[in-house]
Amino acid sequence: MDYDKIASSYNRLYKEEQLKKLKAIEKILNVRKEDYLLDIGSGTGISTNYFKCNCFGLDPSFKMLKFSKDLKVCGYAENLPFKENTFDIIIAVTSFHNFIDFRKAILEIKRVSKKNAKIVITVMKKSSYLEQITDLIKENFIFETIEEEKDIIFYGNLM
Ligand SMILES: C[S@@+](CC[C@H](N)C(=O)[O-])C[C@H]1O[C@@H](n2cnc3c(N)ncnc32)[C@H](O)[C@@H]1O
Repeated sequence: MDYDKIASSYNRLYKEEQLKKLKAIEKILNVRKEDYLLDIGSGTGISTNYFKCNCFGLDPSFKMLKFSKDLKVCGYAENLPFKENTFDIIIAVTSFHNFIDFRKAILEIKRVSKKNAKIVITVMKKSSYLEQITDLIKENFIFETIEEEKDIIFYGNLM
């Protein structure tokens, strides 16, 4: 999907749906205000605006990012412009199945995570990549799942 093209209507179409997922994720995460949180595929900033901590959004769609008020950077999950050991929390809400190279993205998540970082990845149940992503998450994280209306929420820690 070309997110630049739908950027101006994204919040009207999807914000409510995304907020439901965030309510479930909030319960899992127990965010502290001093936490450094990276939202990969942050789009219009629905999540970075939701969590009250040090939030950074990253997304390749400049037009989606234009709608995001929080700290944000234009870039790709496969090449995160952050140092090793930076984040307490990494989330990717309904974005992971859009990434170009899932394995590279996982390696990057591991690289920029602090040792006990909490990781949350949600994937649309209808995504044709769900099985492939589940296998990769199994290989790399100790995780549990919650089934939400449209997404599977994977959450856990690095191995
Ligand atoms: C369905 S939107 C989700 C946006 C946001 N997470 C939310 O909950 O509203 C998917 C987002 O993934 C982003 N995306 C696509 N490919 C990406 C990549 N390789 N790295 C990071 N983000 C990517 C898109 O630009 C888009 O903003």
